[in-house]
Amino acid sequence: MASSHTREALMSRRVTVGAPGLLLLLSLFTCLLRCALCAKASNVILILTDDLDVELGGMTPLKKTQALIGDAGATFSHAYTATPLCCPSRSSILSGKYPHNHMVHNNSLSGNCSSKAWQAGPEMQAFPVYLSKKFYQTFYGGKYLNQYGTNETGGVGHVPPGWDQWHVLVGNSKYYNYTLSVNGKAEEHGDNYEKDYLTDLILNRSLNFLDSRSPQHPFFVMLCPPAPHSPWTAAPAYQNSFVNVKAPRDGSFNKPGKDKHWLLRQPVNPMLNSSIDYLDNAFHKRWQTLLSVDDMVEKLVKKLQDIKELDNTYIFFTSDNGYHTGQFSLPIDKRQLYEFDIRVPLLVRGPGIKPNQTLQDPVLNIDLPMTILDIAGVNISLVDMDGQSFLPQLAPSLRNGTSRPYFLVEYTGEGHTAKDPQCPKLGPGVAECFPDCVCEDAFNNTYACVRTFKDNDLQYCEFADDEAFVEVYNMTADPHQLENVVKKVDPALLQVMNQRLIKLQSCKGDSCRNL
Ligand SMILES: *[C@@H]1O[C@H](CO)[C@@H](O)[C@H](O)[C@H]1NC(C)=O
Ligand SMILES: *[C@@H]1O[C@H](CO)[C@@H](O)[C@H](O)[C@H]1NC(C)=O
Ligand SMILES: *[C@@H]1O[C@H](CO)[C@@H](O)[C@H](O)[C@H]1NC(C)=O
Ligand SMILES: *[C@@H]1O[C@H](CO)[C@@H](O)[C@H](O)[C@H]1NC(C)=O
Ligand SMILES: *[C@@H]1O[C@H](CO)[C@@H](O)[C@H](O)[C@H]1NC(C)=O
Ligand SMILES: *[C@@H]1O[C@H](CO)[C@@H](O)[C@H](O)[C@H]1NC(C)=O
Ligand SMILES: *[C@@H]1O[C@H](CO)[C@@H](O)[C@H](O)[C@H]1NC(C)=O
Repeated sequence: MASSHTREALMSRRVTVGAPGLLLLLSLFTCLLRCALCAKASNVILILTDDLDVELGGMTPLKKTQALIGDAGATFSHAYTATPLCCPSRSSILSGKYPHNHMVHNNSLSGNCSSKAWQAGPEMQAFPVYLSKKFYQTFYGGKYLNQYGTNETGGVGHVPPGWDQWHVLVGNSKYYNYTLSVNGKAEEHGDNYEKDYLTDLILNRSLNFLDSRSPQHPFFVMLCPPAPHSPWTAAPAYQNSFVNVKAPRDGSFNKPGKDKHWLLRQPVNPMLNSSIDYLDNAFHKRWQTLLSVDDMVEKLVKKLQDIKELDNTYIFFTSDNGYHTGQFSLPIDKRQLYEFDIRVPLLVRGPGIKPNQTLQDPVLNIDLPMTILDIAGVNISLVDMDGQSFLPQLAPSLRNGTSRPYFLVEYTGEGHTAKDPQCPKLGPGVAECFPDCVCEDAFNNTYACVRTFKDNDLQYCEFADDEAFVEVYNMTADPHQLENVVKKVDPALLQVMNQRLIKLQSCKGDSCRNL
């Protein structure tokens, strides 16, 4: 009764009200047109793993990911992070800026990790803000920044601008027993596999998001699983996988870092057996956790097929930084300037990208947001970021452009002012001294490097320590960086590299790209 009454009312309005009815029709038409135009923009998915290397074979367990993203699109052989540590690197991915411009220097609040200054500054102009203005429906699931959710910075109630759906981990990577911010409300999780396993949970939430989205707008999904970060908790089905796999013994494994900066001259060489056992255990457990990520990718691609969006979706798969297990006798971690820590996997599939390509062009994590905004149709010449779109490399039929000849990697070492009570023989100023009191970081592990490709395949690094230490590697002759050639190369070349470094260390926006 009620509905027929309403219909009658509508009908009578349509016949009696002429001019406003026309206006209504007109606005309906323009709305439909706008929706039709925006529906043409492609969807984007960004999968950001935590500490996944490429040098140590980190992609090996990810067979389905390789097939469904890499083989269906492009694999970059020279993808790098602008800084090899979680919070500064993730801040670079969100803001598109080098650390000297976003000013997130380490994993602590005092180093600006998810701090009030970050929230009031770079986070306000992070790339999802631009996507949201382009009517993208946005979803974030998993780890954000290591200090996210701390009470000093607004707790779980803080939801950064640009996100429609926010299912984000409080603090650093965990697989069980964590708190999530679900759109600003705390949600506690225990350790029941079916209910709580974080990699599976964020996948499930993203699938729900895809089912409940409004199909006339494009979507952006960012999935940040804890894998393969410690504590390396595998799903029950994978707890017996790879148990006999050991860390690779080639390259710089268990080599002394004798011609390198102070921190690299400290580790015991050869390594203690207990350190080797520790890193082998970590190595196979890392791989176990990746099997759930591989399932995530498979299920996501299947869902895109089911909702008929696969052909209109770009999928990016990458990591915040690399990793090492025994390289130069450092047991496990990241934070070093060497390829194993700064080089990351990067696979991309999507419209206009030919399958089965390996691209040699150097790309940086600060390029990810510019590339995504380029895909979304944002006028990126007006976006204040240091990176550049690599859509021209991915899909030359869609864009023209060349990649940069060299770039900057910068890192601020972490340390503790007090001595480590577990390691009484060590002085203050060091950090991450385990296992066996081998330290992975120090205040003076603060460096900036230029990595050049076009004229020379070279890495040049300067340390902010009291030796003003310099390391130089010929990457063609010595891909494992075994020999620091600073005393052998032409001093004129060192001067050129030093000048490039100085310019890059204060670059901003265009001056980071126009080299
Ligand atoms: C990519 O290459 C692999 C191995 O050569 C082949 O099996 C596969 O069909 C190729 N994929 C596409 C999408 O062309
Ligand atoms: C934190 O970032 C703000 C700007 O966002 C900057 O002014 C401040 O110096 C930074 N703090 C540190 C310790 O670098
Ligand atoms: C924030 O404060 C609440 C209440 O005091 C406490 O239960 C919670 O653990 C704190 N959260 C963090 C991340 O420090
Ligand atoms: C989760 O917390 C419970 C209660 O504190 C504890 O018994 C359990 O061992 C924890 N599980 C994991 C995987 O850490
Ligand atoms: C995710 O969804 C699957 C399929 O519905 C279910 O079996 C699994 O328990 C869910 N896992 C979590 C952590 O929500
Ligand atoms: C360390 O391991 C090697 C190889 O397994 C073995 O030969 C050596 O005896 C061990 N050293 C110690 C001190 O246990
Ligand atoms: C992080 O950076 C801040 C600011 O530079 C510094 O005070 C703090 O000691 C750093 N934290 C660590 C663990 O090094």
